[in-house]
Amino acid sequence: MTSYEKIFQNNKDWVQSKLNTDADFFKKLAKDQNPEFLYIGCSDSRVPANEIMGLEPGEVFVHRNIANLVCATDLNVMAVINFAVRHLDVRHIVVCGHYNCGGVKAAMKPEDLGILNPWLRNIRDVYRLHKDELNSITSDGERYNRLVELNVQEQCINVIKLASVQQQYVKNNYPMVHGWVFDMKTGLLKDLKLDFEKILHDIQEIYNLTDSNWKLK
Ligand code: CO
Repeated sequence: MTSYEKIFQNNKDWVQSKLNTDADFFKKLAKDQNPEFLYIGCSDSRVPANEIMGLEPGEVFVHRNIANLVCATDLNVMAVINFAVRHLDVRHIVVCGHYNCGGVKAAMKPEDLGILNPWLRNIRDVYRLHKDELNSITSDGERYNRLVELNVQEQCINVIKLASVQQQYVKNNYPMVHGWVFDMKTGLLKDLKLDFEKILHDIQEIYNLTDSNWKLK
């Protein structure tokens, strides 16, 4: 059996295992989706969203791209967030980066990478914003890890800048935005514990899109 054929065998086995625990599994799955979480992560094959979160089909809405970027000109991620917030009514938005991220590593090297240039520039911008902190770290490995974390933080801020997210939050007190980093050496998720309300408050002067005079206390 080739690796390609094996996929279809895997799929049949998976169907059977689901049916063994719940005969109506796919009947329920086909009905509707009502995920509480939107997960925005890296495309890296070693970071499977559902698996690391221990969630079943239907429990997390997923968007992945190289280095988990939330870029205002990327129609794809903008549509995903809008749909998740306005239609799926998600309670939590997670931006999940990971250590050993090839995209972040590539952005740290001054090199022409063709079509990846405009994409990775988002990460180079994160570096520029936090240049003093990053340049004060002498270990290359630690600087790389810190850029992974700061990139997650900045992408969370990009999520919080969006009108859909701000307006929904004013109305419902959710969604909350969370920044995580996955460590593939241990399998553990690290919560960066970003203070969502403080970030929203700090950026409000410039990015308030709530269509009101609403202010956080
Ligand atoms: Co990556």
